[in-house]
Amino acid sequence: MIIIKNETQIQGIKKASVIAANTLIYLEQFLHIGQDTETLNELAHKYIKSQNSIPAPLNYHGFPKSICTSINNVVCHGIPDKKDILKNGDIVNIDITVIYEGYFGDTSKTYIIGEADEDIKNFVKITEDSMYAGIKILKPGILLSEMGKTIEKFVEPFNYSVVKEYGGHGVGIRFHEEPHVCHFYTKSNNIKLQTGMIFTVEPMINKSKNWRVHTSSIDGWTVTTKDNSLSAQFEHTVLITKDSYEILTLPSI
Ligand code: MF3
Ligand code: CO
Ligand code: CO
Repeated sequence: MIIIKNETQIQGIKKASVIAANTLIYLEQFLHIGQDTETLNELAHKYIKSQNSIPAPLNYHGFPKSICTSINNVVCHGIPDKKDILKNGDIVNIDITVIYEGYFGDTSKTYIIGEADEDIKNFVKITEDSMYAGIKILKPGILLSEMGKTIEKFVEPFNYSVVKEYGGHGVGIRFHEEPHVCHFYTKSNNIKLQTGMIFTVEPMINKSKNWRVHTSSIDGWTVTTKDNSLSAQFEHTVLITKDSYEILTLPSI
């Protein structure tokens, strides 16, 4: 069942979403060569607490940390670790989900550490642009699958691919709600959008034609590309409004 959010819920989810976005902005000053991802996890944890919020990933189905940090060939669900030290040219996705007064907001960005090749800079930019291309078509009455189709078509000319095993999700009252959001065309996403729906758009794009992924049997979480190509991701929490959409995970200034 897809939850149509009422005005009270929307107000709460908006606050949680802004806090999640502000957390990303706060962390940016600490993203540099030599930084370890466990320090980023601790900084994020403290910041989220200071905003009277709870980091949603911590203990979620046993996830051990407060944020996800996914470096290079890691697609998603990377676990922060003292031994994971950012180096020049790395790309790292930081994924933040916070709970504020019981409401959830979810957002992520991929950052380039130091100097990267033009090729890699382009790849990260196209991944971000693909998310916005998908978001821009959202409005009541269209099918959710149109969004996935748009993202898939957007990245295809670059010989990148859209990860199929993981997607976006309804969000707000719980961390992961219906619908499951595919960032590629599939009939199963032929769901008519309605005012008051809130879900994430979070394409994971591989820098190769191979969209397949592998989940670590060692930690049970870390998802990597099968062919070890780079993978990037951007994520926003989005509300379907009366005749359009609103991105909720924008930072407050
Ligand atoms: N924030 C991720 C998402 O966008 C989910 C992380 S689940 C966790 O849906 F358990 F790894 F935290
Ligand atoms: Co997320
Ligand atoms: Co999400």
